[in-house]
Amino acid sequence: MASFFEFFVKFSLLIVLLIGSTNAQLSPNFYSSSCKNLFPTVKSVVQSAISKEARMGASLLRLFFHDCFVNGCDGSVLLDDTSSFTGEKNAVPNRNSARGFDVIDNIKSAVEKACPGVVSCADVLAIAARDSVSILGGPSWQVKLGRRDARTTSQSAANNGIPAPTSNLNQLISRFNSLGLSTRDLVALTGGHTIGQARCTSFRARVYNETNIDASFARTRQGNCPRATGNGDNNLAPLDLQTPTSFDNNYFKNLINRRGLLHSDQQLFNGGSTDSIVRTYSNSPNTFTSDFIAAMIKMGDISPLTGSNGEIRKNCRRAN
Ligand code: HEM
Repeated sequence: MASFFEFFVKFSLLIVLLIGSTNAQLSPNFYSSSCKNLFPTVKSVVQSAISKEARMGASLLRLFFHDCFVNGCDGSVLLDDTSSFTGEKNAVPNRNSARGFDVIDNIKSAVEKACPGVVSCADVLAIAARDSVSILGGPSWQVKLGRRDARTTSQSAANNGIPAPTSNLNQLISRFNSLGLSTRDLVALTGGHTIGQARCTSFRARVYNETNIDASFARTRQGNCPRATGNGDNNLAPLDLQTPTSFDNNYFKNLINRRGLLHSDQQLFNGGSTDSIVRTYSNSPNTFTSDFIAAMIKMGDISPLTGSNGEIRKNCRRAN
């Protein structure tokens, strides 16, 4: 009798866990029998792209973030505009900015060769983001898989879904919370700005007008970003001034020294509720690493298409 009771309790717990955990459909071994060489196939293309240009790792990580924040992680950011919809690529946060689409095409071709019609573009992007972080010296983790691809999207979804660099802390917190990501997830994920570059147009107002900024840092950035709008808009500066091609915790050290490049970056250390999290990550790379991994997995769980929803696109740029 006792053992039946024990079984009943354990069984019920299992059911609660399965129902309670978000997207129990996604799993790290989703393609383990249908596409055995998936991971090495993706990694070798990512590796060669990063060997050509280290920044590409940052661009691929950002693409995954932009995918997940717009209708969930469904590969929608990869769709070109068509006669029936205007997609995300020309939305304000992406135009002249989002990059790496050609690398995703190369990965997808290699994956299609190995396992035709099996692996979604949304999953390719999730794996490429993970590999990018680890190739640039950051952590690696088990990526959950089994997402399917959207057939359509919209430009306005991207304009509304991706936070602007002019956002204040409350706006950042509430956008992340609305997707099930905590304030701690916000700070950990924005640690992605330890790699990559931003355009003058994204940081001009900060380096000319703001007060919570190190004066000599502001002057340096002004040097390559003219004050007048329309001049040097696409000139680049590193998001992490120290090591923009290494995934480390220097981003948080910069914030403490008032050397965040974007207004939104410095909002995370501006006398508010997230200051203590920034201090924790700047003192403890291991805490940043484990929180970043957990938050990436959570972000990857945002409203995936599964089962018979969506499709497995052949070409990441268009629906089948
Ligand atoms: C908290 C809200 C965020 C805002 C407001 C924001 C904003 C931006 C902006 C304005 C840029 C520069 C774009 C340009 O000037 O062309 C950028 C670049 C970048 N962002 Fe974010 N971001 C945020 C969160 C994230 C997250 C969560 C990740 C990844 C986990 C991420 C990863 C990146 C990377 C890697 C780059 C550099 C891309 C490259 O060099 O091609 N960002 N972000």
